[in-house]
Amino acid sequence: MELPFAESWKIKMIEPIRKSTRQEREQWLKEAHYNVFQLRAEQVYIDLLTDSGTGAMSDRQWSAMMLGDESYAGATSFYKFEAVVKQLFGMKYVIPTHQGRAAENVLFSSLVKEGDVIPGNAHFDTTKGHIESRKAKAIDVTTDKAKDTQLEYPFKGNVSLEKLEKVLTENKGKVPFMVLTITNNTVGGQPVSMENIKDTVNLCHKYNVPVVMDSARFAENAYFIKTREEGYKDKSIKEITKMMYEGVDAMTMSAKKDGVVNMGGFIATNNKEWFEGAKLFCIPFEGYVTYGGMNGRDLNALAEGLMENSEYDMLHTRIHQVQYLASLLDEYKIPYQRPAGGHAIFVDADKVLTHVPKEEFPAQTLTCELYLEAGIRACEIGYMLADRDPVTRENRFGGLDLLRMAIPRRVYTDNHMKVVAAALKNVYDKRESITRGVAIEWEAPLMRHFTVQLKRL
Ligand code: F0G
Repeated sequence: MELPFAESWKIKMIEPIRKSTRQEREQWLKEAHYNVFQLRAEQVYIDLLTDSGTGAMSDRQWSAMMLGDESYAGATSFYKFEAVVKQLFGMKYVIPTHQGRAAENVLFSSLVKEGDVIPGNAHFDTTKGHIESRKAKAIDVTTDKAKDTQLEYPFKGNVSLEKLEKVLTENKGKVPFMVLTITNNTVGGQPVSMENIKDTVNLCHKYNVPVVMDSARFAENAYFIKTREEGYKDKSIKEITKMMYEGVDAMTMSAKKDGVVNMGGFIATNNKEWFEGAKLFCIPFEGYVTYGGMNGRDLNALAEGLMENSEYDMLHTRIHQVQYLASLLDEYKIPYQRPAGGHAIFVDADKVLTHVPKEEFPAQTLTCELYLEAGIRACEIGYMLADRDPVTRENRFGGLDLLRMAIPRRVYTDNHMKVVAAALKNVYDKRESITRGVAIEWEAPLMRHFTVQLKRL
């Protein structure tokens, strides 16, 4: 008999979690203005808000922390971390930052100016925020294949080379770089193929435009290349990673995802001028260039996390769990962005809450319903997150309206996934009776979804 799948680790420490009653949740959600970011974590039973900074560190990471060197400048922890980044990504210059958006802030402060245009395959919201707040424009060049959630295509995170070339030809001299995000979070944790990475880099370089890789989930992207793309099945994740970065000019990294640390990030580049430029902003914003907003012990944990999470078994365990949740949704016929992405399942709220008009934010409404049903906190990656157009101030209803259930790394078991799927099924079964959504009572001018206050209609 073939042995079944099992996790490539065992559990050494646990944290109790608590269920609540529907009555309690109704009260809490009202107090949170129907925005799950405003809930207290202890009001949540299973927390799928994000896979960012929520992973469980390994015994090796915790023990590496004890060897942290907290010297202000030139700590051993920095050199250990720098060596790992150089080894994995083949980049020459490395600057630590306290998280991904800090890396964006530091690098973009030196590179982005008013009137610039920055194409990307669905910029993450902080990335877009750092572009738009500098009065530059972020243009999405993701393949249209990502728009059809029911289409089975292995690399829905890909760049449309036609869209990219159009932006490059129409904006000559105004494009300081292109952002290539792997995996493409916004369209569903969907990977970018090696072929598409190479084509994108070559096309950009043809126009003398450098490429910055937004690398938060680089290891999951490498896993999908290994398992889905012809010619990579015998290569290790580390070999594939190295290949993905060949020719890439720089990377910004939120280490809170595939670095499996609770806080951390970095910039790495092969461009000496960019390195010198970024250093100038690192010092005032983040700190001296060998710690850049991080503790020495955290740099040690990150070095270890990057090495162990770029091993096949670790990634297989993780993606297997995401795919397990997807298989339960298949059983219940609940529509999500297919095939399952790397870090999350993105439920197609437009296809679930068909009676809720887009002006009433279906995915945001589904987020509320799932929380009320079982204390599960997911998040909206849809019309609320899309914000308003910076010029017209109109809501941007052009993209997908998704409920993201992000799965923290090494935290929940498959039994938790069963609870999540059952709760979602219960909501799905009563979808016909949900006819009204939410309305905005207050919103911030930028990145409104974190703090928006809503009322239930
Ligand atoms: N880039 C991508 C692709 C991301 O997904 C994130 C964060 C960032 C950059 C910013 O990094 O949070 O360390 O400052 N994504 C989280 C999420 C917050 O929930 O998807 P950060």
